[in-house]
Amino acid sequence: MRQSLVVANWKMNGSLASNQALLDAIKQGCQDVSHVQISICPPAVYLAQVSQLLTGSAISWGAQNVSHEAGGAFTGEIAVSMLAELQCRYVIIGHSERRSLYAESDQVVAEKFARVRNAGLIPILCVGETLSERESNQTEAVVLRQLDAVLASEGIAGFHQAVIAYEPVWAIGTGKTASREQAQAVHAVIRQHLAKQDAAVAEKIQILYGGSVKANNATELFAMPDIDGGLIGGASLQAQEFLAICKAAR
Ligand code: PGA
Repeated sequence: MRQSLVVANWKMNGSLASNQALLDAIKQGCQDVSHVQISICPPAVYLAQVSQLLTGSAISWGAQNVSHEAGGAFTGEIAVSMLAELQCRYVIIGHSERRSLYAESDQVVAEKFARVRNAGLIPILCVGETLSERESNQTEAVVLRQLDAVLASEGIAGFHQAVIAYEPVWAIGTGKTASREQAQAVHAVIRQHLAKQDAAVAEKIQILYGGSVKANNATELFAMPDIDGGLIGGASLQAQEFLAICKAAR
């Protein structure tokens, strides 16, 4: 049985004061959700603060991005060794905002994935189709292409310690959620694709859904057999809303 995982993606939001208030409230409210793994991904400059506030709690933390290079003359970039020093557990890789706004190719995403795994951290690989891709029946082809880029370089063993997040681009930050049937269908395709190479890896891997998850739709999404939790953007910035989503997880 896979344990549920709910990950907060704060994106480019927060301040020293608001982070502290938000985490205080989440720590207080999460006492009765020990059946769910919770992780917080703040902007990188706040990782030190977040690690200090969460050390000793059941909540882990992670980064929203990482360089595909190991280190050196890459102004503005952050190396995975730095994230490891701050005890990050997860790194979100290939979020659609990175792919579309910062031109991250499948190849760069695969390189980042490898960096994260080789450093002993857990990549959360984001995949998902745009609205026009869905409308032209390319959802499966797009998601599997994104997955195959990582499989080609890392092999199925690369997914032994990894998380996948299915995030339809048209559902991110739009208030439009995939129906539970739409989401489940893609999650099943992803799991079956991995199962062709290794059934045990496919059975074990957590596949999260992301895209306008809120307290009022989390229960039905998380009830689907291949949805193992969520990657939560906007709703993770409000403690009570985020906690309600965590409680909705199996
Ligand atoms: P959203 O973002 O919950 O605000 O739609 C999800 C994400 O981008 O990970």
